[in-house]
Amino acid sequence: MHPLKILESEVVQCRRCALRQNAHGVVFGEGAESSRIVFCGEGPGAEEDRLLRPFVGPAGQLLDKMMSAMGFDRQRNAYVLNVVKCRPPSNRVPLPEERESCRPHLASQLEILRPAIIVLLGSTAIQSFLGPEARVTRVHGQWHQYQTMWLMPTFHPAALLRNPAWKVLAWEDLKKVIDQYRVLVDPNHPSPYHPISDDHLG
Ligand code: URA
Repeated sequence: MHPLKILESEVVQCRRCALRQNAHGVVFGEGAESSRIVFCGEGPGAEEDRLLRPFVGPAGQLLDKMMSAMGFDRQRNAYVLNVVKCRPPSNRVPLPEERESCRPHLASQLEILRPAIIVLLGSTAIQSFLGPEARVTRVHGQWHQYQTMWLMPTFHPAALLRNPAWKVLAWEDLKKVIDQYRVLVDPNHPSPYHPISDDHLG
């Protein structure tokens, strides 16, 4: 069995915090096990909790479009997960102690996947890696490093649905991700809206 599947079978038993009591189940994450890029959100919403799959509601549909514009999809070459694996009641922001309880699960996922790049979607994901003071509007688009991984903070797709004017900013961030993926993982990575540049050929 793949180590991620073994980890999943452990994480679905988790009762470390109270979130599991009100949730239908654990939303572990999903994607290609060989992915070198991870998209990290906040926590499951209603639809995710119903289907026990990450990012399958309205924000998830936008995330799928964003990934597809970048040349990624979760069946083939990307992994999608959340900071907390159980739905917070009424979709409230997960509390610091809930994030802490879930942190070992996230750390284990990343240890197995060892992605080159993590795209941090929105405040909860950003603050989990960069600290509680980080603000998406200030830090988006700037590379950070965590162990061997490159982190790109950007807007959460739910925020983009509420505030479509931010989509242009998010796309600038995501183009940097595509460029870095070409440097770190695959120089020929195709993206329908961000073709490989031949600038360097002079
Ligand atoms: N929002 C998130 O942060 N994660 C999901 O899985 C769905 C919505």
